[in-house]
Amino acid sequence: MNPIDCQKPTFALTTPLYYVNAAPHLGSAYTTIVADAIARFKRLQGQSVLMITGTDEHGQKIQRAAQASGINPQEHCDRVAATFASLWQKLNIQYDRFSRTTATDHEKIVKDFFERVWNKGDIYLDRQKGWYCVACEEFKEERELIEDRHCAIHTNLQTEWRDEENYFFRLSNYQQQLEQLYAEKPDFIQPQSRRNEVLNFVKQGLRDFSISRVNIDWGFPIPKDPKHTIYVWFDALLGYVTALLDSQQEPTLENALSHWWPIDLHLIGKDILRFHAVYWPAMLLSAELPLPRQVVGHGFLTKDGKKMGKSSGNTVDPVELVERYGSDAVRYYFLKEIEFGQDGDYNEIRFVSVLNADLANDLGNLLNRTLGMTKKYCQGQVPSVRGEEISTAENTLKTLGTDLGDRVAQAYNSLDFTQACEQIFILIRSCNKFIDEQAPWLLYKQKKQTEVEKILYAVLESVRLSAYLLSPIIPNLSNAVYQQLGLDLDFNNLASVNPRDNFEKHAQWGFLPASGSLKPAKPIFPQLELPSD
Ligand code: MSP
Repeated sequence: MNPIDCQKPTFALTTPLYYVNAAPHLGSAYTTIVADAIARFKRLQGQSVLMITGTDEHGQKIQRAAQASGINPQEHCDRVAATFASLWQKLNIQYDRFSRTTATDHEKIVKDFFERVWNKGDIYLDRQKGWYCVACEEFKEERELIEDRHCAIHTNLQTEWRDEENYFFRLSNYQQQLEQLYAEKPDFIQPQSRRNEVLNFVKQGLRDFSISRVNIDWGFPIPKDPKHTIYVWFDALLGYVTALLDSQQEPTLENALSHWWPIDLHLIGKDILRFHAVYWPAMLLSAELPLPRQVVGHGFLTKDGKKMGKSSGNTVDPVELVERYGSDAVRYYFLKEIEFGQDGDYNEIRFVSVLNADLANDLGNLLNRTLGMTKKYCQGQVPSVRGEEISTAENTLKTLGTDLGDRVAQAYNSLDFTQACEQIFILIRSCNKFIDEQAPWLLYKQKKQTEVEKILYAVLESVRLSAYLLSPIIPNLSNAVYQQLGLDLDFNNLASVNPRDNFEKHAQWGFLPASGSLKPAKPIFPQLELPSD
């Protein structure tokens, strides 16, 4: 994946706005965990960040879900939206805005936008006939369907025949401009495989799509013709714009777009690529507004090889997982184990074994044993060695640590979290090996105090650097490491403007000040066990 822009002082990113047909599952949590790790890394680097998440609350799918639970749609949305917000809190997600598409401000923004597109002459009335997947909220081409006219994404659901009068958006008018956009900005859609998917789709010729529904009252009325409601996707994409309004601002399109627009990164799953990489830029072109900088589509979490989803009923409950294992465990597993961009299968046995190996043993035990030795051999103080006094020739950890910050930054900016973790864990594992080889306990007995101190300093500093660089992924564990090293940076509360030179200092091997007091060693991550049931 090509790196995302890291030089700008500000960075705005979005997760999708999740449907509230049911409580969140692990698949929806995945996108949000990824977005949070990016946002945290950007803040660590000193960028001012706006992270937007929220819920998509209109349309037939939600209307039916509310009917099934026997409550009115708004009450249903309020309940389910609250379960999303509560999960984000449990997962330690630091979002700045939570955009709900049933908010009154949003209605005004949708109306303003609709009018711009209407005045442009890009909306007309026609007849829509076709197969509709309510779970996707999308008309499907006959060739996209599988056996028995089931949707290829929601394989247990049959599509429904529709034949009705709808308003249409002239997507076909934007074929050329979109092709030009993809050609001029090859990074607009990432990764490359998703870009190719979009290019192939657009090459086949764009067809206008319907942006209103009849017989569904759970949505905003079309301003010119209120017996139609606005199609849920037309409404939902604009939720990203509404999110930009400050709480005091009058809800106008102009106000919303005055700050933070255009969005730097729309992070989405591959199933909603077409909406974000084709429909959305075309809608913005029609409204004559600047386009977002990048759309990145990740893969699916699968269970037994099938897309995990609320409509398919094969989900894993993220609340249960986070309550059993803790937020850092869940975050680490999904960021490290699922190669970003690819599909990845969730498996609890693997989950437990990866966490035990990496966090409990390699990192947790390393910190514990090193603090123990420092207490014994150096009175519980960071040895009075300075990083620059250790030469790379005499110390492999310094060699590995010297440009680790740059390599990990490059990995984060390319959204390669697996690589970021791997690079950091090479250093962590080398620390364990280094201690075993150097055997400071023997050197201590031989009264080689200076050597003992250099070894322990190098290990403590490598652990510190690792914790710093892992903080976008496991902020609580990084805090625990920093705290035991006697350092007082709170990764859950980086000052709103974290100056750029902070990153340059902290991400540098050798930053750990000599002679600081260390805190008593406490295990930072317990050995996990599989549930017995
Ligand atoms: N409401 C729309 C998005 C509107 S954005 C303006 C929507 N909602 S969703 O709840 O169905 O999906 C939200 C996101 O969760 C999508 O990016 C989707 O790809 C992601 N995931 C849903 N199931 C998933 C997996 N099993 N695995 C990974 N992500 C998946 O679409």
